[in-house]
Amino acid sequence: MAALKRLWPLAAALALGLARSGPWAAAARPSPGPAEAALFARRCGVCHPLPNPGLHTAQEWPRVLERMQMRMRMLGRPPLSDEETADILAYLQAYASPG
Ligand code: HEC
Repeated sequence: MAALKRLWPLAAALALGLARSGPWAAAARPSPGPAEAALFARRCGVCHPLPNPGLHTAQEWPRVLERMQMRMRMLGRPPLSDEETADILAYLQAYASPG
């Protein structure tokens, strides 16, 4: 968490830059911040180590999240709410692989 905090200003600047020019420029959501990062860490590192957002492109992440929802139901874990899904997706897409 300490490392994440130190990296945050850089990451935020990057995300802001991308938000202006990237494919999700039209999204009405603010850039993901430490709250989204914490939510991601809490919900996505339960069954396996926390995945690197750079594993997938921004286009691929929604499908992976849908599958993870299914895994959570299968394994009797509470699935993500719509808001949690949107927040985690925003975080993953901000740091996704450029392709
Ligand atoms: C209920 C347990 C569980 C939780 C919670 C969970 N996963 Fe998974 N995850 C799995 C299982 C099981 C696999 C391997 C099977 C598969 O790929 O569907 C997996 C595989 C993955 C993979 C590798 C496969 C791929 O498509 O790249 C990624 C990335 C991933 N999870 C991301 C996430 C993210 C992001 C979250 C948080 C929203 C999350 N997982 C939460 C169970 C879980």
